[in-house]
Amino acid sequence: MTGLQDYLISLAGRGMLRSLREIESAQGPRVTIAGQEYLLLCSNNYLGLANHPSLVEAACRATRDFGTGSGASRLISGSMSLHHRLEERIAEFKGAESALIFNTGYAANNGIIQGLLGPDDTVFSDSFNHASIIDGCRLSGARTLVYPHNDMQALEEILEREARQQRGRWLIVTDGVFSMDGDLAPLDQLADLKERYAAWLMVDDAHGGGVLGARGRGTAEQFNCLARIDLQMGTFGKAFGGFGAYLDARQEVVDTLINRSRSFIFSTSLPPGVLAGNLAAVDLVDSAEGLRRRTQLEANRQLFSGLLAAAGLDLCGSTTQIIPTLIGEPEPTMQAAAKLFSQGVYLSGIRPPTVPDGTCRLRTTLMADHTPVELRQAAQRLIVAVQQELAG
Ligand SMILES: Cc1ncc(COP(=O)(O)O)c(C=O)c1O
Repeated sequence: MTGLQDYLISLAGRGMLRSLREIESAQGPRVTIAGQEYLLLCSNNYLGLANHPSLVEAACRATRDFGTGSGASRLISGSMSLHHRLEERIAEFKGAESALIFNTGYAANNGIIQGLLGPDDTVFSDSFNHASIIDGCRLSGARTLVYPHNDMQALEEILEREARQQRGRWLIVTDGVFSMDGDLAPLDQLADLKERYAAWLMVDDAHGGGVLGARGRGTAEQFNCLARIDLQMGTFGKAFGGFGAYLDARQEVVDTLINRSRSFIFSTSLPPGVLAGNLAAVDLVDSAEGLRRRTQLEANRQLFSGLLAAAGLDLCGSTTQIIPTLIGEPEPTMQAAAKLFSQGVYLSGIRPPTVPDGTCRLRTTLMADHTPVELRQAAQRLIVAVQQELAG
């Protein structure tokens, strides 16, 4: 293990050392750390469901009835009724022909891209896509062409150039909501392009599922093009307050993945308690309470981002509950995050390699059950901390 200490010391010297923070309470708008209460502004628990009584009760009941573990991967003996019920429910919720559950969003993106593509195929991938998409492309061996973030003209030029020598399958893949910028992929335009060039379109809607669209179906619902997306991946660990991920797609896609997707095949399946919690979460998102929580989250977003924008901060084009504030270099970013933490506001400083060099930022994520009073106070503190760092 020689060299690791030097590596860690050099990371620390550049303000790049990462470490873990222990949360002692349940996940909520406020959490306890080292005995102190903090306003939590960096959780993906957007609708506040991670500790909701109906999800907790469903998980406890399923654990009592069916146990703590599934005992095997889906293709061996781990395909329990709850897996099938959750897949049916998510397919119905999204209006899709079929659905498949994966153990995490990371495993889903890896396994979907690897399972469907090989070295003869080509992926067209947005430059801001999540790491799990990038790793899935690598694992598949497909030729991967990265287009500049959300630049439809550049993408079309690449597609046009490649069309002269088209072979194999083509996949355009994008985040629905970009996780570090909080902006949206123009899915209607991407759907036009994929139809014009006979490609498949895959959307990673980890941050849009449950939140966006009038009925919480996600980014594609917002762009009114749900039925035009071939592969819609989403996670249960964020707005749905649970754990795991899903793909909704045509039956032949699902059947292919069951036979080819390594992260699906070679991993023990999700346990009953998690599945039942996810099922209860889909029902809740699909209910009047889900709508109420989405409406509250949107009101919180307008309040918070309105205050930051009015103070002249650069919000990186965010139009969602993910609200970054651009600072630039790692040290001032981490100093601003530390200052806010000392004032009871917990949010994250984001550095390379998660974002490109020179674009370090404070990343705020909102929840439906933050109160306006909490958000106003946090926004004031954030504005002062960022302006002090930017002033140098
Ligand atoms: C855009 C995006 N895709 C996929 C994932 C991975 O999902 P999971 O946390 O369920 O592995 C994340 C983050 O967690 C994400 O932000």
